Amino acid sequence: MRYRLGTEWPQLVPVLLLAVICAVLLGLGDHLSHDRIKANRRATQLYLIDAVMPQPHDNDLLADSVQISDSSVFGTGSAITVYRARIDNRPAGLVFMPIPAHGYNGTIELAVGLAYGGEVTGVRVLAHRETPGLGDQIHQDHSGWILGFDGRSLQDTPVGDWGLRGDGGAFDQISGASISPRGVIRAVKDTLDYYALHRDELYH
Ligand SMILES: Cc1cc2nc3c(=O)[nH]c(=O)nc-3n(C[C@H](O)[C@H](O)[C@H](O)COP(=O)(O)O)c2cc1C
Repeated sequence: MRYRLGTEWPQLVPVLLLAVICAVLLGLGDHLSHDRIKANRRATQLYLIDAVMPQPHDNDLLADSVQISDSSVFGTGSAITVYRARIDNRPAGLVFMPIPAHGYNGTIELAVGLAYGGEVTGVRVLAHRETPGLGDQIHQDHSGWILGFDGRSLQDTPVGDWGLRGDGGAFDQISGASISPRGVIRAVKDTLDYYALHRDELYH
């Protein structure tokens, strides 16, 4: 039996109207939350960039970046973005993110800031899956361990010192977890080595 729209159709008008209003509200909500997510992401990115790049600069770092295309150096298939800090158009420092490090439970992602002279201005963990209470002590929210990179360079820390104290290096141990900090130390050292070879082209 086929249904025919008869004299009852005017009663459907409020229902249809309600459906249209709901659809419009949902679309609007989606649009607004998309904008808010984008704004939040930008704010987080700026916060982390600021944390690792305390060097004074007068340019907008988010608008001055370059991609490392040969990211195989860092053992990753994904691109690494390098934000460039400048004063009066002169190079002041760089922020690399994300730099991958080998952790106990997979890749640890880092933001690494370097001053023009090659000193570390800051390192922060962007993402990780290390074990709570063990490997997660590399994270700035759980301990001050990651601040141990501040001010270090290839000049003031010889090659043999880029390791944990237990391995004969210059970096503090993390109790019960050596794999995560070793991965982070290696990744920061790799970033410095890359910088030493590519500094001039990274600023152009
Ligand atoms: C369940 C479990 C989780 C662990 N999580 C980590 C971790 O997140 N990071 C880490 O470095 N070591 C972790 N370890 C400890 C490592 O297996 C290893 O014993 C430790 O890093 C010391 O390494 P070393 O003997 O080379 O110094 C974990 C061990 C267990 C049993």
